[in-house]
Order: sequence, then structure tokens, then C-alpha cells
Amino acid sequence: MPIKYDIKNKTVLVTGANRGIGKIITETFLEKGAKKVYAAVRNPDTALSLIGQYGKRVEAINIDLERPESIIAASQQAGDVQVVVNNAGVNTRSTPLDMEAVDSLNYEMEINVNGLIRMAQSFSPVLKRNGGGVFIQINSVASIKNFIPIATYSASKAAAYSITQALRDMLDKQGTFVMSVHPGPIATDMIANVPEVLEIAESPQVVADNIVAALNSGDFHVFPDKIAREMKKSYQSFAENTIEATIFDK
Ligand SMILES: NC(=O)c1ccc[n+]([C@@H]2O[C@H](COP(=O)([O-])OP(=O)(O)OC[C@H]3O[C@@H](n4cnc5c(N)ncnc54)[C@H](OP(=O)(O)O)[C@@H]3O)[C@@H](O)[C@H]2O)c1
Repeated sequence: MPIKYDIKNKTVLVTGANRGIGKIITETFLEKGAKKVYAAVRNPDTALSLIGQYGKRVEAINIDLERPESIIAASQQAGDVQVVVNNAGVNTRSTPLDMEAVDSLNYEMEINVNGLIRMAQSFSPVLKRNGGGVFIQINSVASIKNFIPIATYSASKAAAYSITQALRDMLDKQGTFVMSVHPGPIATDMIANVPEVLEIAESPQVVADNIVAALNSGDFHVFPDKIAREMKKSYQSFAENTIEATIFDK
């Protein structure tokens, strides 16, 4: 469903809005004229600086993706949401041969995949009631290629990408546009302790800016930074001809 969607005057909910990519998305949407952002956070105190900056246009709301009841409660409290950004995610940096690999993968699956499923289950009826809107999922280049030092995370992000594809087709029927965002290394706490990755990382601002651009162009896949765009070069044909094509939908 190609769209041209203006964030101006829209009510948005962003998970993990207190820091990293989620914070910059929140700020960017507000700068672009969003009416209000529900900053979905585990600890409401961590949204205080955003509230200090934007006043009543930011409301802290509790979502802990490990606590399904918090997601359900948030969807009832934020019944006016038109745009959901499922941004919060975790990365344990584990390879399959690490002793804790299974625990790491289970944890990453719980937040990065089950969290996405629960967010979609709770918020798709809200988006439908409010006219369709947009559901934005922050995936990764690691959704498409496994990177050894973050192998279990990559597996969870691949699963999240797979679920995002199903949501794209399912929610299209209710007029909700789904977007799958695939950043490469972005300078946030997630990679702060990995100097060799931080060295090549870009600012979270490129993620927010490219989401705003994709809302205008109606792109499902978003590759916001240089490394992501390099990957897009070889992936684009498969994405267009297989992922975005209707092959078998029964
Ligand atoms: N940074 C990168 O290089 C990169 C690249 C590609 C994709 N991504 C993706 O981008 C998204 C944001 O990452 P980031 O780099 O901004 O990470 P970050 O700086 O580590 O921030 C993670 C955010 O997720 C929240 N979070 C963690 N566990 C949660 C839970 N159980 N329930 C609710 N919120 C939870 C954190 O909240 P607390 O403050 O409460 O911990 C924090 O707001 C993630 O989905 C990540 O996989 C990141």
C-alpha cells in the first residue's frame, strides 16, 4: 500500500523512547510537528528529560516488553495512537558457541520477537480504530545477514523481520502501513562498548530522518545508513521480487 504520510498532528507511541534510536525518533517526530508522543519506557523517570523539553506533547507510559500485561494496559491507555514505533530491543552479543548462547537467544527472542508480536496484537486494533495509521518496526541489517559476534541477536532480528513481513500483508487489509527499518551500526549504548563497531557507526539521526522520508515515499524496506545501503544494493532485487511480491498468500 503506497502512502504519503505526514507525521504532522499525529499521535505516536515509541517503545524505548528514553535513549538511543528511540529518543531521536521521538524528538524528530516532535520537531516535524507530531501532536504528541507517548514515550513508552520501563522507568518513567527516564522520560523526564523529554518531558522537560517538550512539555505535555510527551507523555510517559509504561511498557516493559517482558511484561505482556504492561503492553495491554498501554494500548488501553493510549487509545488515540495513530503511529506505533516498535523500537526497543536487546543485544547480548553472543555467538552460537558461547556457553550462554541458548539463554541469550531466548532472551533476545522474548524482547525482539515476542515483544513485537505482543505490540502488534495489542496496538493493531487501536490503529484500525484510528483510521489505519502506521506500524514501524526497527529491524536491522542483522535481520538479513548473520554477524558472528552478534549471532543470536541476528537470529532474533531475522525472526522479527519475518514477522514484520506477515504483519505488512495482514495489516494492509485494515489500512495500516507497516515499515521495516534495517539500520547498520548506529552510535548508541547498544554498541558503546565495541570500539571497532562504534568507529564505523552513524548517528541515530539518520534512522529518524530516513523513517520520515519513507513515510513520504511509502517504502516498506528502509536502509538508513551507508552500510545498510551497501547491503541494499545486492538485496533490493530479492526484496522487490520475493519479499514484497505476492507469491502465495493462502
Ligand atoms: N545501535 C545499533 O547499531 C542498531 C543497529 C540496528 C538496529 N538497532 C535496533 O534499534 C533499536 C534501538 O536500539 P538502540 O541502539 O537505540 O539501543 P539502546 O541504546 O541499547 O536502547 C535500547 C532501548 O530499548 C529499551 N528496552 C530494553 N529492554 C526493554 C524491555 N524489556 N522493555 C521495554 N524496553 C526495553 C531500553 O530501555 P531501558 O533504558 O529501560 O533499558 C532502551 O530504551 C533496537 O531494536 C535495536 O535492535 C540498533
